[in-house]
Amino acid sequence: MSEHAVEFRLNGRPVRVLVEASASLVEVLRDQIGLTGTKLGCGAGVCGVCSVIVDGSLQTACLVPAVHLDGTSVSTIEGVADADGSLAPIQRAFIEQGGFQCGICTPGQVMAATALLRERPNPSEDEIVDWMKGSLCRCTGYYGIVRAVQAASGEGR
Ligand code: FES
Ligand code: FES
Repeated sequence: MSEHAVEFRLNGRPVRVLVEASASLVEVLRDQIGLTGTKLGCGAGVCGVCSVIVDGSLQTACLVPAVHLDGTSVSTIEGVADADGSLAPIQRAFIEQGGFQCGICTPGQVMAATALLRERPNPSEDEIVDWMKGSLCRCTGYYGIVRAVQAASGEGR
């Protein structure tokens, strides 16, 4: 299998990696770069646990071919907190509102919420529910997650 050099920005820092032609972004993040915060679930673009932001757009990293990354800017869960480790408002809200549930879905939920609040800083409850349904929770529920997004958007507590 052929390898290709790709250069992109990852959480604000330049990276250069050699990737297999068939590799997905989530595979490169986890297996080559060592950022395991982005999880791999269905591998088919359905569950949302691999959600990242590429050039400002929410993407399922299992469906992003790594060879297409050249020149892009990628944000992962590892880049949400400030450089000094201080949690971002959305991360604090997930903890305070009970949205922080399991370690499989939560990184993708936080990335989805981050993308939503960048696009729509004050979303309605219906908009939050509609947006977040792309990130599946198989075991708990969405009340805490919706509250967390509302709290981070300043819409309520
Ligand atoms: S692992 Fe990517 S959407 Fe499920
Ligand atoms: S809390 Fe993560 S899948 Fe349900």
